[in-house]
Amino acid sequence: MEKMNERVEMKERYLVDAYKMKEYERIYSRIQELGLANDPVINNSLKIMSVFSHNKEVFERERARILQIVQAKEIEQQLKGHPFVPEPVGTEVSGEIKLGICKGSNAWFGLSLKPELEEGALVTGRKGSGKTTLCYLLSRGASKLGTHTLTFEVKLEGRNQIANNKDTLVFRCDMTHDWFKYNFLEVPEGVDPLSKISDVSDITEESYEYYVGTSSYIAYHIYELYKRNGIFEGSKNFPTPWDLYWKIEKDRKSLITRDARYRESALNRLNSILLRMGKAFNYKIGYQIEKLLDDCNIVMELDNLGKKGRIFLISLILAQIFRYRISNPNKKHKAILVIIDEANEIYDRRLDEMTGGLTVCSLDRQAREFGICMVYACHDPEGMPRSVINDVHTQILLSLPGGTSLKRMSESMFLDTEQKEYDYQLKPGEGIVRRAGHPHPFLVKFFPHTLPQRIGDEEVQKHMQSLIAELD
Ligand SMILES: Nc1ncnc2c1ncn2[C@@H]1O[C@H](COP(=O)(O)OP(=O)(O)OP(=O)(O)O)[C@@H](O)[C@H]1O
Ligand SMILES: [Mg+2]
Repeated sequence: MEKMNERVEMKERYLVDAYKMKEYERIYSRIQELGLANDPVINNSLKIMSVFSHNKEVFERERARILQIVQAKEIEQQLKGHPFVPEPVGTEVSGEIKLGICKGSNAWFGLSLKPELEEGALVTGRKGSGKTTLCYLLSRGASKLGTHTLTFEVKLEGRNQIANNKDTLVFRCDMTHDWFKYNFLEVPEGVDPLSKISDVSDITEESYEYYVGTSSYIAYHIYELYKRNGIFEGSKNFPTPWDLYWKIEKDRKSLITRDARYRESALNRLNSILLRMGKAFNYKIGYQIEKLLDDCNIVMELDNLGKKGRIFLISLILAQIFRYRISNPNKKHKAILVIIDEANEIYDRRLDEMTGGLTVCSLDRQAREFGICMVYACHDPEGMPRSVINDVHTQILLSLPGGTSLKRMSESMFLDTEQKEYDYQLKPGEGIVRRAGHPHPFLVKFFPHTLPQRIGDEEVQKHMQSLIAELD
C-alpha cells in the first residue's frame, strides 16, 4: 500500500507530459493485472521513469526494460501448460544471422558466427523436415556478413547459390568434369609435412574398410616420396596421389613379406578414389581450398563418389583447412561456415568408435577457435559420433521419426517426456532448439524459403569457365 501511494505521488509530482503520463498509467495497470507489482526490477524502473521523465532516452530505456518483463509474463500466462515455457523474449536468442522466430513469444531467433556457430551447430530431422532450407538460411546470412561458405552435398541443391552469388565455385567431383584440381599430398603453407603424412594416412585407413596397419604402410611411402622430392627442405615439388599409387604398385619386396596385405589394401583404396577422381588428382599444385575460402563460396558436389569416397575426400579437405589454421595461429583467419548437408554420409559412429575417434573429429575440436563454423545436417543422429551430437553449441531438432534417434536427441538436449513427444507435432520448418548458455529448450518457426529448381550442368559449366580462368 505504501509503495502504491509512493508511486501515485511520484507520478503526480514528476510526470507532466501527457504521453508519458498515459504510458506510465497503462504500464502500471498492466503490471498490477499480471501480479508484478512487487517485482524489484520493475519498481526500480518505474521510479527512474518518473523521476527522469524529462529525459526521453532514460524514460524509453526503462519503459523497454519493464515491457520485456511484462511480455515474458504475458507469454507465460498464454502458454500455461505448454511444454516449452518459459519462452525466450526480447533479444535473448537473437544472434546476428536471423533464422526465424520463437513460436510463442515471437522473439527473434538467430545465431552469431562468434561464439555460437564457431562452437558448432547440429540440425537434425527426417527427410523433408527443412534441414537444407535452414542450411541455406545460414549460408545466406553468413554471406551478408561477408563470410564465405563451404558446402559439401550430394543432392545438387547448393549449386543454386550461383544465381545470387557470382563468387561461388561449384566443384563436381567425378571423372567427367576436369575443372577441379586437388592434390591431397600438397603441404599447405606453415604446415609440418609430417602432420600432413599422418592426416592423409589415417584418413585413408579410416575411410575405407578398416584394416589396421595400412596407415603406417601408406605413411612410410608418402614419407619416402617427400624425402625424394625434398619436401622436408621446403621444396614445392609435391608428389601427386598418382605418384603414391605407382610407388606402392612397384613395391615388389612387399610381395614376399607380411606387408603384402597392407600393400594390397592401400592399392585398393587408392585405386578406388583414383578411378572416380583421377583427373582432379593429377596435379602437383591444386586449388588451395583453405585460401580460396577467403574470397569465394565453394560447393563440393559429391554424389558420384560413393560413400567411402565421400568420407575420404571431405575428411581430407576438412583436415587440410583445420590443419592450416591450427598451424598458422598468428594469421588473421576470416571466419568460414562449413555446411555438411547429409552429414550421416561422413560422420559414421561405427567408424568413429572402431578407430578410437575419426581424425576429422579430433581436428575439428582443435580448430574451433580458428574461425571455422561447422554446421552438421543429418537425418539420423543415432548414426553420428557422440562427440558431434553432444559437443555443439546449438542443437536444432526438427521433426524426427520416433525410435532411437529421437531418444538420442531428447537425451542429448535434456528434453522432458512432454517436450520429446511434442516433436511429433512439428511441421516442416519448425524445430526445438537447445543452445549453450540458455537455460531451456524452445520452439522456433524458421523462415520459409523455396529452394529453386535445380540449375542444369550446362549453366554450372558456363559459370565455372570464367571463374576457373581466373584461378589458373
Ligand atoms: N522454414 C520452412 N517453412 C515452411 N516450410 C518449409 C520450411 N523449410 C522447409 N519447408 C518445406 O519442407 C520442404 C523440404 O525442405 P528441405 O528440402 O529443406 O528438407 P530436408 O530436411 O533437407 O529434406 P531431405 O532430407 O529430403 O533433404 C520444402 O520444400 C518446404 O516445402
Ligand atoms: Mg536436404
